Amino acid sequence: MIIHVDQPVVEVHDLTVTYERRPVLWDIDFTLPGGILAGIIGPNGAGKTTLIKAAMDLVVPGSGFVRLFGKSLKEVRSKVSYVPQRRTVDWDFPASVYDVILMGTYPSLGLFRYPRKAEKELALDALRKVELEDFKNRQISQLSGGQQQRVFLARALTQNADLFFMDEPFAGVDAATEKTIIKVLQELTSHGKTVVVVHHDLQSVAKYFDWTIMIHSRLIASGPTSQVFTPELVEKTYGGKLDLLTEVAHLLQTEKLPPRED
Ligand SMILES: Nc1ncnc2c1ncn2[C@@H]1O[C@H](COP(=O)(O)OP(=O)(O)OP(=O)(O)O)[C@@H](O)[C@H]1O
Ligand SMILES: [Mg+2]
Repeated sequence: MIIHVDQPVVEVHDLTVTYERRPVLWDIDFTLPGGILAGIIGPNGAGKTTLIKAAMDLVVPGSGFVRLFGKSLKEVRSKVSYVPQRRTVDWDFPASVYDVILMGTYPSLGLFRYPRKAEKELALDALRKVELEDFKNRQISQLSGGQQQRVFLARALTQNADLFFMDEPFAGVDAATEKTIIKVLQELTSHGKTVVVVHHDLQSVAKYFDWTIMIHSRLIASGPTSQVFTPELVEKTYGGKLDLLTEVAHLLQTEKLPPRED
């Protein structure tokens, strides 16, 4: 992996977000280089989803800003793809798997143009990549959670974006589906695309991510995983959460965490 530190793809500057006068993100400041697979970790309610929403202009920051490719989201909208947290989406919407995936090509189609062969091929290719060919005509309401997650991913792929924000793409999927998804994400970064993923499973952080962003309302750390995913910073990120401290202890036992660098 080549990291181009001089040209950040994501720049979060002094970002503060407040819901009903309660600040949930405080003074967040970091940049991400292009071509990396980055994980955002932090406990429930830490502000991970809010951070992605701020990048997608879905929440208005109290102060600060997010720039993507050095520009505002408006200017680079077609190059940015957002996959929301699965449970926040209405899956009763009457549409087939293929319809939903094909819809991903709409921004590139422009107004009043129907999908042609190229777009249809793009959709079929994405369907294959996420191994959902057999479910092409199934209504999305009749899919399992893991299958819905893959529909989301396929739809994002047809958008042909350069930057992907994904909110917990591995939530509630089995090991085989997780493998399929991570393979697709790694392929994207091998083509120079940047993928930012909200993640919950600390066991796989070191294995999956080139870069890790650790938040707990404030930014605890952001950097190459080998440098920031240390026991001290993990503990600081999840501080006080008993179950997670147990998890940290387990990680230490199995030596999945890098040694401390003094
Ligand atoms: N629309 C909203 N109005 C008021 N408070 C909100 C709203 N959305 C989120 N919050 C609060 O903001 C905080 C951060 O929420 P956020 O969804 O960003 O957390 P998260 O890190 O994604 O958590 P999880 O791991 O559970 O998905 C939480 O305390 C949440 O209750
Ligand atoms: Mg969330």
